[in-house]
Amino acid sequence: MKRAVCPGSFDPATNGHLDIISRAARLYDEVVVAVLINESKACLFSIDERIEMLQEIVADYPNVRVASFRGLLVDFCRSQGISVVVKGLRAVSDFDYELQMAQMNWGLAGVETLFMATNPLYSFLSSSLVKEVAKWGGDVSAHVPDVVAQRLAARLSREREAER
Ligand code: PNS
Repeated sequence: MKRAVCPGSFDPATNGHLDIISRAARLYDEVVVAVLINESKACLFSIDERIEMLQEIVADYPNVRVASFRGLLVDFCRSQGISVVVKGLRAVSDFDYELQMAQMNWGLAGVETLFMATNPLYSFLSSSLVKEVAKWGGDVSAHVPDVVAQRLAARLSREREAER
């Protein structure tokens, strides 16, 4: 069985993430969407919330499942029998860091990385930008799955209430 991983923080998942996940699902028998547990990074959504949202987002893809991991991605890959990481490349600015990680992951454990050219519709999109726009009241509903738009609205209105 050919298994690939789409790793990330997914805080929150965007339509750009879903584009890469769904295209990877056409190339591999199974795709594992792996959410990094990183206690030292301040996230808007908890790990459980991010997993719940992703599970809803990928529910229509029978060969996609969601998992979480701590530590090195290559250790997660080894534990799950995964030999390929699939990453979206939005622009040249992504390339430097992604190349470093890909080379490190290959050197550490022979795990390959497949770079997928992002659909140009999503080349400007990032989780940070979505949070920034939503925080200041901008409409992000065209850029994220419905469940994310709803949870973002609920979370940010709760935060605004708390600030009053
Ligand atoms: O969505 P992000 O935050 O850009 O995803 C980055 C992620 C999770 C893919 C990357 O930070 C990662 O793989 N972290 C796990 C720790 C690890 O393996 N680090 C060495 C990579 S060479």
